[in-house]
Amino acid sequence: MNPRKKILPSLLSAPFDRLGESIRALEEAGCTLFHYDVMDGHFVPNLTIGPLIIQSLLPHCNSEFDVHLMVANPETVFPWFLLDRVRSITVHAEATPHLHALLMRIRAHNRLAGVSLNPATPVDCLEYVLPCLDLVLVMTVNPGFGGQKYLPEAGRKIRELCELRGQTGADFLIQVDGGINAQTIRTVLDLGVEEIVAGNAIYGAADPVAAYWELSSQLDA
Ligand code: DX5
Ligand code: ZN
Repeated sequence: MNPRKKILPSLLSAPFDRLGESIRALEEAGCTLFHYDVMDGHFVPNLTIGPLIIQSLLPHCNSEFDVHLMVANPETVFPWFLLDRVRSITVHAEATPHLHALLMRIRAHNRLAGVSLNPATPVDCLEYVLPCLDLVLVMTVNPGFGGQKYLPEAGRKIRELCELRGQTGADFLIQVDGGINAQTIRTVLDLGVEEIVAGNAIYGAADPVAAYWELSSQLDA
């Protein structure tokens, strides 16, 4: 199996009174990377969690975290997440006029630097940041809430990103986030995505471990 292909459970859908337990259960099933949604009530109409929760989870798990910053002023916010085992920090292209500088700053701290694109944002905006880009997160819903429906128009964007990799030799990971479940995962994998974020499909299931396994089994299908 391609080791770059992964299912990233989104903690946004996990029970917030039992986050440690919810992580450990999936770690036993083989998961080592969790998606962590930070929303500020400005960039998106919802407010979630800050760095303190990662800090308090660190002694209770072994996994790494993939931080998705849905915030205004990501320049101010990202340094708060330079914590142990934060593998990647993803900022929204729409949230900053200084994307290039911001990605360089994230990389300077030895974290993977990611850019997220809202459904309305075209791939073109990445043209001049390719040399400092490790990951592109394609929003397959409008950001702000878990449990929404996959937007099929994201497929074209994923295809364009794959072409861009082919044409330029850039080797950023492609991640999708929003509405991924046992049905929609096939579409995005066939398009060439490596990292699949899944919230409701895992933590909304009666048996999150079984749901994680079901999605994982599709990675090498
Ligand atoms: C939405 C968040 C997602 C969310 C996905 O704005 O960025 O990470 O947790 O949840 P599902 O998989 O339920 O759509
Ligand atoms: Zn997310």
